[in-house]
Amino acid sequence: MIRVAFFDSKDYDRKNFQSDKIEAEFFETKLRRQTAYLAEGFDCVCAFVNDTLDEETFALLSKKKVKLVALRCSGFNQVDLDAAGKYKISVVRVPAYSPEAVAEHAMAMLLTLDRKIHRAYIRTRDFNFSLSGLEGFVLHGKTVGIIGTGKIGQAFHRICEGFGMRTICYDPYPVGGFDYVDLPTLFAQSDVISLHCPLTDKTKYLINEGTIRKMKSGVYIVNTSRGGLIESESLLNGLIEGKIGGACLDVYEEESDVFYEDNSEQGMNDDVLALLLARPNVIVTSHQAYFTKEALAEISRITLENILSFFEKGKLVNGIGTA
Ligand code: NAI
Repeated sequence: MIRVAFFDSKDYDRKNFQSDKIEAEFFETKLRRQTAYLAEGFDCVCAFVNDTLDEETFALLSKKKVKLVALRCSGFNQVDLDAAGKYKISVVRVPAYSPEAVAEHAMAMLLTLDRKIHRAYIRTRDFNFSLSGLEGFVLHGKTVGIIGTGKIGQAFHRICEGFGMRTICYDPYPVGGFDYVDLPTLFAQSDVISLHCPLTDKTKYLINEGTIRKMKSGVYIVNTSRGGLIESESLLNGLIEGKIGGACLDVYEEESDVFYEDNSEQGMNDDVLALLLARPNVIVTSHQAYFTKEALAEISRITLENILSFFEKGKLVNGIGTA
């Protein structure tokens, strides 16, 4: 039987990864160099977005004779692929499970923030039916700039077209059917900017003090991709100055120690996140854009297939790093 150690696991992982084909053990702790010793006796570790797969972690996993890292997510910026190669550990991922889930969440956040639903919800529960401060704007006819026209960007594009928005896009690898512009044009013309590109050396801090300066005053920024795409302090300053009208953040640069956990007892030690959360024109969700029944079922189905293909058929399916 293939032995798989799941890291950073929650109750829903335990429920979704029930299978008689693997012997699974679920650890709540994240995978990092300090916890890699738990992989003793396992053939495979199953990791998630906020695990840290750096060189030292791979060295330790290799000592424990782990052969495969199966990511149950699509992004892999948390993985040092050179180290995976060096220690001959293969890495697989789930390239797509429900682009619509993420795109729909992006639109849900945008509509919530624009139409102040988050504030109205709290007011009416307190029998406060005043409308002061709840004025929104119509999306129809507004320009949305989509950065990254892969699976999720395309799904978001379809939704925005349905709303009657004008769509402009940027992607260094354009595909047919989209109105592409260069980044300065996208920044200058967009009323809403939505990020759907991966986090790489090239895209790190794509949204920074300089690029914010090029944007339209009052622009809304939606990030359901990776926190590192935005330089958080510049975002905060842009919000304070009123240059940025609103921010919908499903991901955050320093999310790994905070997201997916209940921090209500200890409070918030990250000052920038605390200040962002304190603003009425910011909505933060805890990297939950994918979190639907459909996506969870697909993630477990594809991850199990990836693991079984590797160990039973010797085939690397959805591989991103090969020994
Ligand atoms: P994808 O690989 O289908 O598309 C990414 C697109 O970004 C590609 O078209 C690529 O050409 C483009 N791109 C690459 N470099 C770029 C650059 N410098 N500037 C602009 N575009 C660039 O990926 P998919 O499935 O659409 O996912 C997008 C991102 O969404 C992932 O990288 C991941 O970080 C994030 N994600 C977030 C989830 C959540 O729950 N919040 C769930 C799943 C993915």
